[in-house]
Amino acid sequence: MSDSVACFEATHGTAPKCAGKDFVNPGSKLLAVEFMPSVAICSTFVTCACGPDGLMRSRPPVQGPGRFNTHRRQAMIQTEMFDLTGKVALLTGASKGMGKAMATGLAEHGAKVMISSRKLDQCEAAAREINDRCGAERAFAMACNAGYKEQLQELVNATKEKLGTIDIVVGNAGINPFYGSMMKIPDDAYDKIMSTNVKSNLWLAQMVIPDMIAKGKGSIMFTSSVGAHGASTTLGAYAISKVAVIGLARNLAAEFGPQGVRVNAICPGLIRTDFAEALWNNPEAEKRAATQIPLRRLGEADDFKGIAVFLGSDASRYITGQALTVCGGSHMRA
Ligand SMILES: NC(=O)c1ccc[n+]([C@@H]2O[C@H](COP(=O)([O-])OP(=O)(O)OC[C@H]3O[C@@H](n4cnc5c(N)ncnc54)[C@H](OP(=O)(O)O)[C@@H]3O)[C@@H](O)[C@H]2O)c1
Repeated sequence: MSDSVACFEATHGTAPKCAGKDFVNPGSKLLAVEFMPSVAICSTFVTCACGPDGLMRSRPPVQGPGRFNTHRRQAMIQTEMFDLTGKVALLTGASKGMGKAMATGLAEHGAKVMISSRKLDQCEAAAREINDRCGAERAFAMACNAGYKEQLQELVNATKEKLGTIDIVVGNAGINPFYGSMMKIPDDAYDKIMSTNVKSNLWLAQMVIPDMIAKGKGSIMFTSSVGAHGASTTLGAYAISKVAVIGLARNLAAEFGPQGVRVNAICPGLIRTDFAEALWNNPEAEKRAATQIPLRRLGEADDFKGIAVFLGSDASRYITGQALTVCGGSHMRA
């Protein structure tokens, strides 16, 4: 085959997967394609590995067959453990911030992702951005307020219909409509926090776990917070909800581990997203980060790509019922 794209499509069997814009080194043509996942040789005699995101990356020049095989094996080992090709992921609260970053990471590693939040236009924009990045149609959008059971059920149904049964769930939607003393929180604010932050994740689990049990496999992750590790005099109900999220993950993990379903919680530290802007957008927060956080910076949404791919993939196959803290070292607990 003379056309490089056609060659690579033949290797992977699907056109979108590897038709990304960085497909080959600029100016080079594929001379040969090994019928192994992710490996090709181009005319600059550089071995190129196609990442799970479908983008080509240069490897050191090939000196001989031995070296080539080593590189090929390495490429395969690296991609297989985190490979999400063929997986379907559903995310709540994913039009921006950490949810969007997690969706991006999952899609870059081959998963098809259903992005949801309350605002459809923002979900669609996020999906477009991810698809442009992957060079393939991997992200899809749907509006869903996670605090309403019937909207979640519609989201699950639509995802299954469009993409197939769900392998990975990221329950990331979270709100905090009240700041102040526990003595003053209105009942409706408390109920809304608990519905959106906790009950929505129970509903989601109830909706997807039967299919996961049928497959003997599935990974669910809920976004908790380092707020769950302590107490707060101003964000009390939010902190309580995030403790409950960890409890939910543990109980589901215990009940459905025997059927292959893993459930974990992620506890972010202070992350520079819109949600927490009041907490980080001030000189004191920057100063504290620069002097007290071991990694010497506040968190960014993109810091959550890795944990989502890790928990969604076989790389974490023996991890369930855990709360994993992603905080630059700001919160260390035994
Ligand atoms: N940022 C931090 O420092 C921090 C720390 C610890 C934990 N967290 C947790 O991290 C999660 C994500 O927050 P983020 O910091 O990435 O915030 P963000 O950038 O503001 O994004 C929040 C996302 O959630 C969506 N959302 C809000 N309410 C929703 C609802 N009722 N139903 C469905 N989607 C909803 C938003 O889109 P729409 O407006 O379109 O709905 C948006 O996509 C939350 O659970 C939060 O509690 C954040």
